[in-house]
Amino acid sequence: MRITFVFLLAMLGVSMAIINQNFHYNSTKQLNLTQVKQLFSKFKAEHKKFYNFLEEQRRFEIFRQNLDIISELNQVEEGTAEYGITQFSDMTTEEFKSQILIPSTYARNFTGSRYHGFQKISQDAPTSYDWRDHGAVTPVKNQGTVGTCWTFSTTGNIEGQWFLAGNPLVSLSEEQIVDCDGSQEPSTGHADCGVFGGWPYLAFDYVINAGGLPSEETYPYCVGNGGCYPCPAPGYNETLCGPAVPYCNATAYPCRQGQVPIAAKIEDWKALSKDEDSIKQQLFEIGPLSVALDASYLQFYKKGISAPKFCSKTTLNHAVLLTGYGIDNGVEFWNVKNSWGAKWGEQGYFRLKRGVGMCGINTQVATAIVSKQAYSEKFMEYEDYEQPY
Ligand SMILES: *[C@@H]1O[C@H](CO)[C@@H](O)[C@H](O)[C@H]1NC(C)=O
Ligand SMILES: *[C@@H]1O[C@H](CO)[C@@H](O)[C@H](O)[C@H]1NC(C)=O
Ligand SMILES: *[C@@H]1O[C@H](CO)[C@@H](O)[C@H](O)[C@H]1NC(C)=O
Ligand SMILES: *[C@@H]1O[C@H](CO)[C@@H](O)[C@H](O)[C@H]1NC(C)=O
Ligand SMILES: *[C@@H]1O[C@H](CO)[C@@H](O)[C@H](O)[C@H]1NC(C)=O
Repeated sequence: MRITFVFLLAMLGVSMAIINQNFHYNSTKQLNLTQVKQLFSKFKAEHKKFYNFLEEQRRFEIFRQNLDIISELNQVEEGTAEYGITQFSDMTTEEFKSQILIPSTYARNFTGSRYHGFQKISQDAPTSYDWRDHGAVTPVKNQGTVGTCWTFSTTGNIEGQWFLAGNPLVSLSEEQIVDCDGSQEPSTGHADCGVFGGWPYLAFDYVINAGGLPSEETYPYCVGNGGCYPCPAPGYNETLCGPAVPYCNATAYPCRQGQVPIAAKIEDWKALSKDEDSIKQQLFEIGPLSVALDASYLQFYKKGISAPKFCSKTTLNHAVLLTGYGIDNGVEFWNVKNSWGAKWGEQGYFRLKRGVGMCGINTQVATAIVSKQAYSEKFMEYEDYEQPY
């Protein structure tokens, strides 16, 4: 009797949890086929996925295998993060990396005048801080099904800088960067490749040369949601970027740089320290910062302070926006704005363990500068000659 009761409770627990999607997938072995099918149906409904018959079989298999990966991620997690079903649960790890992330590459080291040395211009940065609470961050956006994260990291930083220079907060156009920025740096193998990835620091140069960026409203994002099929940007380098998109229409979706009004401008950009105490102080002094990391594990991130066991500290495949930091039960973390919609993660954000170079989050920190003059007035007299890298 007692055994039966416990067994029933356990069964009830499992099915309740499945329905709530709070189920902690340490062991998918406890799920039978019917239950996996239920989870898949719920996933399809929630993320509006439609497949033809053959595709459905294939996606179901991938979904099922992903439950085991999720279970593994939960078991080896060294922080407090939880992993579960996300909008990417029907993609293999390889598909996720090639379509949503950008090709893994080493960070670029910057020195000399490009480098913003460590300065403390006013008070110590507080224990916790987030630019979301100070009006410098626009709502979470969604890059959709393509590898344009780098354009969102770029706009997110410029939006914050433009606001902090005394202007109203305005959401800026990623689409113009996708359509028009073919910047490249052959010596490092880095290039801006539209839907196939790119680098915020190269995009800053593009934005300076283009005279600024229009607003999201006047030049809306469309490439990741099937709304348009632009051709590769002028200067697109197939050697560095790989083959161009197989279908595009330059007549219908041209680069519209110069044809829409500019909403925000920048004059320069700087690379920041790799030291996370300095990054904390500089985030507080400067505003939200463009960063990059190895984001492979984020495919299934749900919530918590992530410290994944398997994560590269040196090769980067995703660009995002550092907006704040804090401490929870003695664990220091970064708050990071992602570009996968507000339903992903913690209302579109994720947290990452701070102070240990987690996933390389500290290796490619950069910011645009709205006014060179204001920058030099604010920082020059505090110039500290810390040797970069
Ligand atoms: C899964 O792991 C969590 C946290 O480690 C634990 O609380 C939970 O009881 C485990 N569940 C199962 C079914 O093993
Ligand atoms: C699957 O598991 C659920 C809950 O444990 C149970 O109610 C159901 O009968 C099982 N289905 C099959 C086909 O084994
Ligand atoms: C950047 O500097 C670090 C530390 O000196 C070094 O390990 C790394 O190889 C450098 N990266 C590149 C791409 O040169
Ligand atoms: C493209 O990149 C390759 C490799 O770095 C370089 O040799 C070539 O000059 C570039 N092509 C153009 C058109 O810029
Ligand atoms: C490209 O777009 C133009 C303008 O919308 C349209 O007239 C043309 O048919 C399109 N070309 C192709 C190949 O779809």
